[in-house]
Amino acid sequence: MIEKRLSLFPISIDVQNDQLTLQGYALQELAREYGTPLYLYDAATLAHQYHRYRQALQRYPGRASITYAGKAYLSPGLIRWLAAHGAWVDCSSAGEILATRKFSKRIPILVHGVNKSASDLELALRFARTIVVDNLSEWQRLIQLHRQGHVLPDLWLRFCPGVLTHTHRHIQTGHETSKFGMSAEEILSAIRLAEQNGMRVQGLHFHIGSQWRETTAVLQAIEETLKLASEIRWVEERWHFCPGGGWGVPYHEDDLPWPALENYLEEILSLTIHGVQRYGLPLPDLHLEPGRSLIAQAGIAIYQIGTIKRRPGCTWLLVDGGLADNPRPALYNARYTALPLQGLGRAWEEQVWIGGPYCESGDVLIQDLAFPKVEEGEYIAVPVSGAYQISMASNYNGAYRPAVLWIEDGRIEIDQKREKKLWWQ
Ligand SMILES: Cc1ncc(COP(=O)(O)O)c(C=O)c1O
Repeated sequence: MIEKRLSLFPISIDVQNDQLTLQGYALQELAREYGTPLYLYDAATLAHQYHRYRQALQRYPGRASITYAGKAYLSPGLIRWLAAHGAWVDCSSAGEILATRKFSKRIPILVHGVNKSASDLELALRFARTIVVDNLSEWQRLIQLHRQGHVLPDLWLRFCPGVLTHTHRHIQTGHETSKFGMSAEEILSAIRLAEQNGMRVQGLHFHIGSQWRETTAVLQAIEETLKLASEIRWVEERWHFCPGGGWGVPYHEDDLPWPALENYLEEILSLTIHGVQRYGLPLPDLHLEPGRSLIAQAGIAIYQIGTIKRRPGCTWLLVDGGLADNPRPALYNARYTALPLQGLGRAWEEQVWIGGPYCESGDVLIQDLAFPKVEEGEYIAVPVSGAYQISMASNYNGAYRPAVLWIEDGRIEIDQKREKKLWWQ
């Protein structure tokens, strides 16, 4: 059973002398040295996942690239890593654009946003390789900027294909009533407006949601997009196509095995290649936009147990983080698992509920998990903590955002310092 839990951790995890280690570092020593809550990122796991994407894309006969979805997690170590490996970064706000440019002068930036502000657009014009236009109001603003003489980056249109993907409803984004993207009619009217204003549209994009593991909806969305693309005259026969990201990961041993990333990629590549032939379209430059499936497994969250409440039928382990650094259980009913950092050989003789220190009954990281009988002061590690945790962290109840370590080739760098100041300090 412990092997199953361990398989959710980064690939550099190991058990030495009954303790968890990562790239040879004992996690317990890192927790003592850097304090908790503490997040660790294993660059080797990111490299492994990135390589799987790259390998699959090799069979695409045209140009293909990977755009990392920065909303999953952005940091200096990660941005530098992505720049060194030829990825693009998707940014959804002025803040993400500035952070990305600060840590890499050359990484291509693709800008998203369902309601881009004036400063989002201003920075997109300065720094983006591509803007993905979400709606006709934004399109009118861009036409205005073009008329005023601004040089615009590549412009793709975000299509809402009207498909419902199998995931939590808060992370579905491609259904007809979604707030994201444009209908087919809106896309065609944007194309007409572009022609009237001497502008070009270079690509089509969709993203139907996150944390799905079944391909029916994405294949349907690809089909719909290629059909729409065939109604558009592509200037110079070159166009870009991005079917978004969203491939899911397991968070708990009951979700294992890891879903077959290669099969998913094979299916979307095949449909794209055959679909463009069927519709008589030129082969597009293909862009994939994963976040979670690249970075989630690379991350571990470490907490210290401060208080244990043993009650009939329920043992509470109360730790020093939770809702403020990981709102996912509260937002999406996400189900996590954990291991203690030491004493891994102990039998799992208790069923524990792991809760944070915040004043919300919903501040429960993990429910009903088989666990050894631990003591106050011990540490626990929660795997698959690399995506949508630190990037969603808040100062709720005056919490400071945790420290993050980036561990690459056996070296540790502080990727984010533990926050020391709140708004009033
Ligand atoms: C436009 C867009 N692309 C890509 C992603 C990445 O999704 P995931 O992290 O599930 O791969 C998201 C996430 O919400 C998104 O909004």
